[in-house]
Amino acid sequence: MARLLFVVILYALPSFVVPIHNSSTGGCAIIRPPRDGGIRYRGLTQEQIRSVQILPVDYEIEYICRGNRVIVGPKVRKCLPNGTWTDLTLHSTCLLLCPRVWTSLENGRVTVKPPGPPVEGTVLHYSCHAGFILEGRNISHCTKLGKWDAPKPTCLCEFLTQWD
Ligand SMILES: *[C@@H]1O[C@H](CO)[C@@H](O)[C@H](O)[C@H]1NC(C)=O
Ligand SMILES: *[C@@H]1O[C@H](CO)[C@@H](O)[C@H](O)[C@H]1NC(C)=O
Ligand SMILES: *[C@@H]1O[C@H](CO)[C@@H](O)[C@H](O)[C@H]1NC(C)=O
Repeated sequence: MARLLFVVILYALPSFVVPIHNSSTGGCAIIRPPRDGGIRYRGLTQEQIRSVQILPVDYEIEYICRGNRVIVGPKVRKCLPNGTWTDLTLHSTCLLLCPRVWTSLENGRVTVKPPGPPVEGTVLHYSCHAGFILEGRNISHCTKLGKWDAPKPTCLCEFLTQWD
């Protein structure tokens, strides 16, 4: 199972072989993928991926996430001449995505905090346009299970609600 987490997808580029430098000639040591994610190595064979320790300068790795998760933070890192990867101070995590349909509201508006894909921890605030009344809760949180903690509200026409 743990092996499955290290999902590796190969790009079929048969004529392109990445030169694997040895550490004294430059390059970057491999880094671990985020939890629930893997790394996409371009131009390497399965065999090379298993044995590689150092990747060449300018080589780019890409993080991919398992299941219904999206990467938050840098998605791609590039090997720098000094042997480090770009943006190492910025954390990359694979977070569960809550259903996107909650992020739009007919006859109203939704503010998404923080902005970006609606992942675990995202809070939605709902409000209705003038002439409409919100039915349901005006706030919803994306939980650690990737589900909203409140049903999506609706905006009812004020005029129509008078006849309820
Ligand atoms: C790496 O390069 C150094 C000198 O450039 C050499 O002495 C060493 O044997 C090389 N190591 C490998 C594993 O190729
Ligand atoms: C490596 O180089 C980058 C940019 O060129 C720099 O931001 C980073 O601090 C350097 N890291 C080290 C360990 O020297
Ligand atoms: C959201 O609803 C609560 C009560 O359900 C209310 O106290 C609060 O003011 C509302 N917030 C906004 C921004 O409308």
